[in-house]
Amino acid sequence: MKVLGIETSCDETGVAIFDTDKNTIVSEQLYSQAAKHALYGGVVPELASRDHLKKLIPLIELTVQESGYTLNEIDGIAYTAGPGLRGPLLIGASTAKAIALSLGKPSVGVHHMEAHLLINLLEDPAPSFPFLTLLISGGHCLLINSQSLGSYQIIGQTLDDAVGEAFDKVAKILELGYPGGPKIEVLAKEGDSSAFNFPRPMTNKSNLDFSFSGLKTAVYYEYKKYKKISNNQKADIAASFQAAVADTLLLKTRSALIETDLNELVIGGGVASNKFIRERLVTGLKETKIFFPPIERCTDNGAMIAYAGSFYLKETEQNMSLDIKPRWPLSELNHG
Ligand code: KG4
Ligand code: ZN
Repeated sequence: MKVLGIETSCDETGVAIFDTDKNTIVSEQLYSQAAKHALYGGVVPELASRDHLKKLIPLIELTVQESGYTLNEIDGIAYTAGPGLRGPLLIGASTAKAIALSLGKPSVGVHHMEAHLLINLLEDPAPSFPFLTLLISGGHCLLINSQSLGSYQIIGQTLDDAVGEAFDKVAKILELGYPGGPKIEVLAKEGDSSAFNFPRPMTNKSNLDFSFSGLKTAVYYEYKKYKKISNNQKADIAASFQAAVADTLLLKTRSALIETDLNELVIGGGVASNKFIRERLVTGLKETKIFFPPIERCTDNGAMIAYAGSFYLKETEQNMSLDIKPRWPLSELNHG
C-alpha cells in the first residue's frame, strides 16, 4: 500500500509517501514557514493558512513525481486531523479529501502527537509496545504509558507552557528570534550550563506533571539584571536554561519509568531534536533502551503522517466530513 501523508497543523507544510511493501518513505517534501512568522515573533494562524494553501498542492505534485509513482497508484491519503491550528488543519483535511474523492481512494485523519510517537517504529531497531513515551513539542509535554497502537494513557503533562513553548519564549526574552529552540541550542554551545542555577520545576513533587512557566520567569528576571548583556552572558543563560529543562525531563522520565516498570523509552516531538537533551537522557537513563527518531523527523514532517496513516487507512471508509479536531487529547483516540 502507498500512503500519501499531509501535515499542515502549524507552520510546516509536510508531504510524504510511505510504501508499506518496502517499509520505507519513498519521497518527502517539507516547506517551513518559520521565516515568515519570525517577523512577528511567533506563528500567525491566518498567515499560516494562506501559506499552506499556496504551497500544499505544488509540494504534493513534487512528492508524487519524485516517488516515481503516479497519483493513481496512491492507495490512500492520510492527513493531520488535530491537534493544531484550525485553519491550517482545514486546508490539509480538505485537500486530502478532495484528492481521495477524485481518486476513489480512502482518507484518514491522523493524530499529530500519535504520529510523532509512531515514527519511531520505522527505525531499526524499533521499540515494541508497551513502552513509555516522552513527547516534547511546541504544544505538548507528555509522559505516556503507550500500551498498544491507539491505546495511550497520559501519566504526566505540563500544567502551563509546553517545553518547546518555553524554548520559544526564552529565545524571545534573549532576543534570539523565532523559532527559539534551535537558536537556544546553538547559542548554548558557547555557554556554561552551570553558570546559573535555574529551578528544575516540580521535581520535588511525587507526581509526573511538568511546569515550565516559572523557569521562563526565572530566566526573565536574570536577563533583566543586565543593563547591557554580552554574547557570552547570553550564552550562559541559554546553556543554564537548557540544562534546567534537560534535568527536569530526565528526573520526571526516570520517575515514570520506575512507576510504570517499563524498560523502553520512545521520545518524539520538535524538542527531541535537541542534542544536549538527547545526551542528558541517554547518559541519565543507562538501564533503559531509548529510541529517538532521526533529527529531521523530530520536528513536524509529512513522513510521520504518512507512516501513522498506514496503520489506520485500511479500516477507514471514504468519509467526506471535515472532521478536524484542533483540540484532541491523545487519550481520546477513536480509530475504531
Ligand atoms: O513538533 P514540532 O515541530 O511542532 C509541534 O508539534 O509543536 O515542535 C516545534 C517546537 C518549537 O517550540 C521549537 O522551538 C522546538 O520544537 N524545537 C527545539 C529544537 N528544534 C525545535 N527545541 C529545542 N531544541 C531544538 N533543537
Ligand atoms: Zn509536532
